[in-house]
Amino acid sequence: MTSASMPKRTDADLRFRFNGTEYSARPGETLAAALLRAGVPMLSEPASDARGAFCWMGWCQECRVRHEGRWVEACRLFVHDGLEAHGRRADDAG
Ligand code: FES
Repeated sequence: MTSASMPKRTDADLRFRFNGTEYSARPGETLAAALLRAGVPMLSEPASDARGAFCWMGWCQECRVRHEGRWVEACRLFVHDGLEAHGRRADDAG
């Protein structure tokens, strides 16, 4: 998605951080959907082990991210204002 086709941010949008970068989401949007819309389809690092949302319904576990000290599925995590999450890294056991 190019920046020319990205919808403009509105006051109703929520702010969240993923891997330290700030993004916005629409109310009711999941983390995986908001990141995909922002052009971030891969949720893990490094790129050689890149994984992203696949089933979009909580089965495949390809979208797991670290949130509040737990591994959660980004496709089932609804964004709230101030949410922070991190993708899997090569040295993560989860
Ligand atoms: S995309 Fe499969 S569990 Fe989230």
